[in-house]
Amino acid sequence: MTTSTNLITVDEQAKFFHLHNEQISYIFRVIPEIGQLEQVYFGPVITTPLDFHHLISREFRPSNNQLIDDGTSSLEHIRQEYPCFGTTDFRQGAYAIRYASGDYISEFKYQQFAITSGYPDLGELPHARYHDESAATLTVTLQDQYSPLQIQLHYTISTKNAVIIRSATFVNTSNTDSYHLDRALSLNLDLPDADYDLIHLHGAWAKEMQVERRPLMTGRMAIDSDRGASSHQHNPFLALAATDSTEKDGLVYGATLLYSGNFLGQVEVDNYDVTRLSLGISPTQFDWTLTPQSKFQTPEAVLACSHTGLTGMSQAFQQFFREHVIDQKWVDQPKPILINNWEATYFDFDEAKLLKIARQAKQLDLGLFVLDDGWFGKRDSDNSSLGNWTVDHHKLPAGLSHLASEVNQLGLKFGLWFEPEMISLDTPLAAEHPEWIVGHPQKRRSQGRNQYVLDFSNPDVVSAIFEQMAAILHSAAISYVKWDMNRYISEAFSTYLPAERQGEFYHRYIMGVYHLYHLLITEFPELLIESCAGGGGRFDGGILYYASQGWTSDDTDAVERLKIQYGASMLYPLQSMGSHVSAVPNHQVGRRTPLSTRAAVALFGTFGYELDITKLTATELAEIKAQIQFAKSVQPLIQKGKFYRLASPFTSNRPAWEVYDSETKTGLIGYYQILNPANPSYHRLQLRGLVPTQKYQLTEINLSNNTILSTEEVFGDELQNIGIILNKDYTNKAAEYWQRPQPTDFASRLFQLKPTE
Ligand code: GLA
Repeated sequence: MTTSTNLITVDEQAKFFHLHNEQISYIFRVIPEIGQLEQVYFGPVITTPLDFHHLISREFRPSNNQLIDDGTSSLEHIRQEYPCFGTTDFRQGAYAIRYASGDYISEFKYQQFAITSGYPDLGELPHARYHDESAATLTVTLQDQYSPLQIQLHYTISTKNAVIIRSATFVNTSNTDSYHLDRALSLNLDLPDADYDLIHLHGAWAKEMQVERRPLMTGRMAIDSDRGASSHQHNPFLALAATDSTEKDGLVYGATLLYSGNFLGQVEVDNYDVTRLSLGISPTQFDWTLTPQSKFQTPEAVLACSHTGLTGMSQAFQQFFREHVIDQKWVDQPKPILINNWEATYFDFDEAKLLKIARQAKQLDLGLFVLDDGWFGKRDSDNSSLGNWTVDHHKLPAGLSHLASEVNQLGLKFGLWFEPEMISLDTPLAAEHPEWIVGHPQKRRSQGRNQYVLDFSNPDVVSAIFEQMAAILHSAAISYVKWDMNRYISEAFSTYLPAERQGEFYHRYIMGVYHLYHLLITEFPELLIESCAGGGGRFDGGILYYASQGWTSDDTDAVERLKIQYGASMLYPLQSMGSHVSAVPNHQVGRRTPLSTRAAVALFGTFGYELDITKLTATELAEIKAQIQFAKSVQPLIQKGKFYRLASPFTSNRPAWEVYDSETKTGLIGYYQILNPANPSYHRLQLRGLVPTQKYQLTEINLSNNTILSTEEVFGDELQNIGIILNKDYTNKAAEYWQRPQPTDFASRLFQLKPTE
């Protein structure tokens, strides 16, 4: 018998499961002899008939440990869906259960399947959502042979996205017994070969999302975070790109997690060139007690597959985040262009100074004034007042509501910075509740940026911070919050959790963070929240579920940002990347870049300004006004268009990228020259994703005054195959050549595409 929907086909006799849409196929089966799940195929769509028996291959390896006496039932040699270490498979498993006797010996066998429409609702744990009618979920239940435990494996596929969403639910059906879950990953994918490069995004504060590509080796390669947040160090993303794949072509798998806490992403190549890709909550110090009648739900892993190179993978993820993760309220809505006072004033401000900036902002047609750190307690530096969310009346004698209403009266929205998870020791909260600080009361607790972390695994702590934040948010017309998080968790210990539940701390902590987000957006549904963690220290798919944009990095230098935003574009949509024009010399690297380049980079994100606009020349102000006008005109394109990386800032002196919306046939292309060479070589920029037969108007924009430098009508095929010719034709124009404005380092050019009819 066959059960079939437009997305999932199940051969109930042979027990083959096939998830498919127009782009991808994912096939696995139950091995009849042993009841375990075997991975059969994941890749570009396969439209062969239902019977996939011919895809199974097994070498005879009798000397290895066998489940049954047949020479081919060693799990070590079977590509599995959700493996367990130590039961004839010696590779790293997806889960580990510790039983009452102290052993880890599980034997989960296939029991049943169910197909439901839409996406599973995981409550406050971030999950894919929306457009439910276009998605279907296959749930396969496995039954332990030694306990009443079950594992439910969920696989969701939708009609449009080239992704599979996977997660697991551990169900304890016992009324009396508890079990320990020491490892519970979200995704395991065993691929039949090892001809891949691993691509991942690593970094540190102010240099997030650096792209690295390395060939796989036999053995294990891992990225992870055990810092309490997904981290600057490794983004929860990895891609396996066929060694011959490029930006444009070839097979690429990508995986990410809708989760903001500790994670492990790992690739293990065994001695038979099978590649095991796994991703989930980090097992480090993880120990979850499955109490009687309880469940544990892993975060969702999103698995993308592209046969059009890295571009296809990135666009699959970006589309998925836009359509199924980010709050739909914000996806297409024009976002106000903001000015943030941080790099303008740091902690040194008063109402007059802020209003001067706000008045100037209005002159420039900005839409949102964001008051950053330093407005509360006695916060004149970073060693005080976190957790005391009351207005500093020395700096703001008339209070926040006065400031907000003055800003509102100017015609700007008002936004405010918080760092909800943190505490400074000089606060009433720390005096009243020292036990709310993460750490062991009798042992060292390290400070980071002079501050400590509140125990968000304790619901009382989350409620108390919510009360304080809600009081502030009710007290003034605040339409935006920047939620910061500036240190990682070390010496993890919760006085709230009993000794045997300390292994649950990190996950409970991040669930506490999500709960506070949930409380805030429930109480203030119109609030736009930007996440931040010392820049991009918690920039991940989980946080995007609650905060539709994130501050990508504290490094605001345009040249550095090319790399950071390029890296982030591996999976995140442009509209999620906060990117601001800041002052020169740049505060992080001291570099002087032209104002036009700073804007030409920041435009490819959620655009804003972060500098003292009261100290600029009239020329600079006029230029900024023109930039803002232009940014508003291209915002729908940035929010909706597909992103193409044309040349990498990691390998090229002339990085470039393009956004193109196939519906409106409009595009925006940014081209950057990092260092200016003497006697330059010829260069052309080939565009992507256009309609070959469409005639476009190609316009070069002068961002300084929002005027047109040049315009011509060109067909899509010419722009894609020949490209934009970047050198001028100086034939018979010697005088013009000698009088041309001297090109500079850190220059940029911006081109716009529109259909001619
Ligand atoms: C972090 C953020 C910055 C700024 C400061 C304020 O570093 O990333 O944008 O808000 O904190 O202290």
